[in-house]
Amino acid sequence: MNQNWKKVAIVGGCGHVGLPLGLAFATRGVCVTLLDLDSAKVEMVNGGQMPFRERGGEEVLREVAGKTLFATLDPECLRDAQAVVMVVGTPVDRHLNPTLNELYSGVDDVLQHVADGTLLVLRSTVYPGVTRLAHNRIESLGRRIPLAFCPERIAEGKALEELETLPQIVSAFDTEALAMARELFLLIAPTVIELDPIEAELAKLFTNSWRYLNFAISNQFFMIAQSYGLDFYRIYDAVTRDYPRMKGFSRPGFAAGPCLLKDTLQLAAFCNNNFFMGHAAMLVNEGLPNAIVAELRESGVERQCVAILGMAFKGDSDDKRESLSYRLRNLLSLYAKEVICTDPYVSDPTFVPLDAALERADVIVLGAPHTAYRDLSLPAGKKVVDIWNFWDRAERPRARSSPSNTQAK
Ligand SMILES: NC(=O)c1ccc[n+]([C@@H]2O[C@H](COP(=O)([O-])OP(=O)(O)OC[C@H]3O[C@@H](n4cnc5c(N)ncnc54)[C@H](O)[C@@H]3O)[C@@H](O)[C@H]2O)c1
Repeated sequence: MNQNWKKVAIVGGCGHVGLPLGLAFATRGVCVTLLDLDSAKVEMVNGGQMPFRERGGEEVLREVAGKTLFATLDPECLRDAQAVVMVVGTPVDRHLNPTLNELYSGVDDVLQHVADGTLLVLRSTVYPGVTRLAHNRIESLGRRIPLAFCPERIAEGKALEELETLPQIVSAFDTEALAMARELFLLIAPTVIELDPIEAELAKLFTNSWRYLNFAISNQFFMIAQSYGLDFYRIYDAVTRDYPRMKGFSRPGFAAGPCLLKDTLQLAAFCNNNFFMGHAAMLVNEGLPNAIVAELRESGVERQCVAILGMAFKGDSDDKRESLSYRLRNLLSLYAKEVICTDPYVSDPTFVPLDAALERADVIVLGAPHTAYRDLSLPAGKKVVDIWNFWDRAERPRARSSPSNTQAK
């Protein structure tokens, strides 16, 4: 099969996954249309402006906007696409259950506009079995739409580099759709890995849950050390130094954002909530702000002003979705004399400039390790809470290494 891809449409195309994917295709000569419901984002993208931070994104967007990449609110754009990639959000609801309706009804909307023979790719992270449901729906309507599920595995903010360096998992129920998906993604990815759809759906959930559990182990160890008044990073340094088996030992920190928790919960729902490690990880990771507040309450936080530096869910991001800095702020607002927040990338009229935060605060809590904070000179005499050990790594006395007896002789 040689499809010669000329026109690709992306539904949810102005989002964190859709837009970088669109940029990647557009720089490979494919004409890309980004369909979105958000008119502000559509306008920004057509004006060559990224709606969110993405490394290298703005330069590429300026090159391709209005040439090989267009954003629109009009679903008619799907009519002449050879492939339609769907990458709308798949959140859990307020009771932490996966939501299927939006994606499922989104598939129906897409089917009204695409011609038979168009490849339909589901790229959102989905509850296992959703691709089968979409496939059955297409068949029940008597449509001939090859369907594939090809999950996105990038780390937000690094999509452009990762899309062209990470292998792409592709899956489909039939060889035609699989071959089309393989060809499409080989335009950008170095390799593809083929799975059955249910395997691919689980592969994505395993990836995110595995990361979430890893962060939870580190966060739990951090809290154990802290509860005994110990310096976690002296131990961390000792166990990782020259010891390859501990290479995968993550640093503690807020494990948050729009994906890791909700994908762990989707996996839990899939196994009838018998995913004890997933639920335990949730309690640990979501409990880290509580542990910080508990410690601060022991040192008189009711008389202190606390500044949170970084409100995004991770360093160098402007994405505040499911950020634990907000959970920390809410908890502190119950116990501290005052809580003030600052972030160079998240705009909020209640935030204060960094200088004012540093000056007013008695306690400084790092909420997101933005590179912009790296060389900050922290005012003397203020308590600093830095679970990432972002600032004082070099100053901490490390456990001493001694040469072996043979060397010493
Ligand atoms: N953010 C990540 O780093 C990341 C990484 C891998 C996978 N994912 C998965 O990708 C999916 C999308 O996540 P995201 O972070 O890009 O979300 P997002 O909210 O940034 O983007 C979704 C976009 O879809 C648009 N949209 C919603 N419904 C639509 C509809 N019916 N028609 C057209 N546009 C519509 C929204 O306006 C938004 O711009 C989720 O399933 C997520 O789990 C995200």
